[in-house]
Amino acid sequence: MTRESKFLQTLNGEVQAIPPIWFMRQAGRYLPEYREVRAKAGSFLELCFNPELAAEVTLQPIRRYDLDAAILFADILLIPHALGQELSFEEGEGPRLNPVVRPGDLAGFEKQDVTERLQSIFETVRRVRGELAQDKALIGFAGAPWTVATYMLAGRSVRDPAALREWYYRDEKFILALIDILTGKTIDYLIAQIDAGADAVQLFDTWAGGLPWPVLDAVSIRPLEKIAGAVRKARLGAPVILFPKGVGEKAVDYAQLRGCDGLGIDYGMDPGWARGNLSSHTVVQGGLDPLAVVAGGEKMMKSAETYLKLFHDVPYIFNLGHGFTPQTPPEHVAALVSFVRNGE
Ligand code: CP3
Repeated sequence: MTRESKFLQTLNGEVQAIPPIWFMRQAGRYLPEYREVRAKAGSFLELCFNPELAAEVTLQPIRRYDLDAAILFADILLIPHALGQELSFEEGEGPRLNPVVRPGDLAGFEKQDVTERLQSIFETVRRVRGELAQDKALIGFAGAPWTVATYMLAGRSVRDPAALREWYYRDEKFILALIDILTGKTIDYLIAQIDAGADAVQLFDTWAGGLPWPVLDAVSIRPLEKIAGAVRKARLGAPVILFPKGVGEKAVDYAQLRGCDGLGIDYGMDPGWARGNLSSHTVVQGGLDPLAVVAGGEKMMKSAETYLKLFHDVPYIFNLGHGFTPQTPPEHVAALVSFVRNGE
């Protein structure tokens, strides 16, 4: 049964006079109500694993802006955590994973049942779906195997993946074995999110950019094809959105994958190119530079208008080209939503 939701109808190929809107990182530190709940929870991880509070922060941006979709409050690094890798978030430094993964660790990972260890996340999904209005969609998500692997292999965010590329050339077998395990665990995790009430799922491949062609194919495109295909086969009604950040013209290869119902474009991609080369294959989502929303005003509106005009005659989901940053003024977000919906 399809929910009467503008977001899901768009993913199903319907063109809307006003596109559905949601934002990557719509729940987060830029919202004072988030910071309040976050302080109450203690740490970021405690917040992720507390269904009552995680459901609350998932719903906050919907209440504030009446967005068309909520995204589950969790993190892509909960999978490595569930696989047994120690995870912490240092204030102002981002995530730390210890110890860094080695070939000998794989057998242990393979044995872990991530759905067992992430039960509280599915409880959050059930709570949110129970509270969310029928015409709003709930998006579940996971990190793409390559992006998650970069954190597992480096123990932190890697701005320059040179060392990981080199590692790949030195020991392709190990890297692909890790990617393969993550692919399987991610399928289990996403299907369990859908069974708990997620209406659609998104895969974040934040660190796909800058990989040479055969490597990108092996570590990102093929695993995402496998995940999207498996999720679609197991749960026909739940669309899959891919967000491979920074892949440029290779976005076409993702858009053409069977099982890719929507494709998130990043702020570096020419939206005219995306309209010409991607919209014939899939539903395009996003693109607006999150920093335009930090600045706000005329520049933000003009930029939003570019996307609205280019995609007015095809199914399109309004979103950013990456997540909101903590310095985003919440009133700029309200002005943006009003501009997209009312033209002012
Ligand atoms: O609103 C939403 O988008 C839902 C929740 C969500 C979070 N992280 C919450 C979060 C989602 C979808 C993510 C995805 C995620 N997490 C990605 C892929 C998307 C992207 O932004 O590129 C990545 C790479 C991560 C890993 C991660 N989590 C990093 C690098 C950091 C630290 C940097 C930062 O922005 O703080 C996090 C922490 C994190 N995840 C926060 C939030 C709200 C901030 C934690 C806090 O409150 O202190």
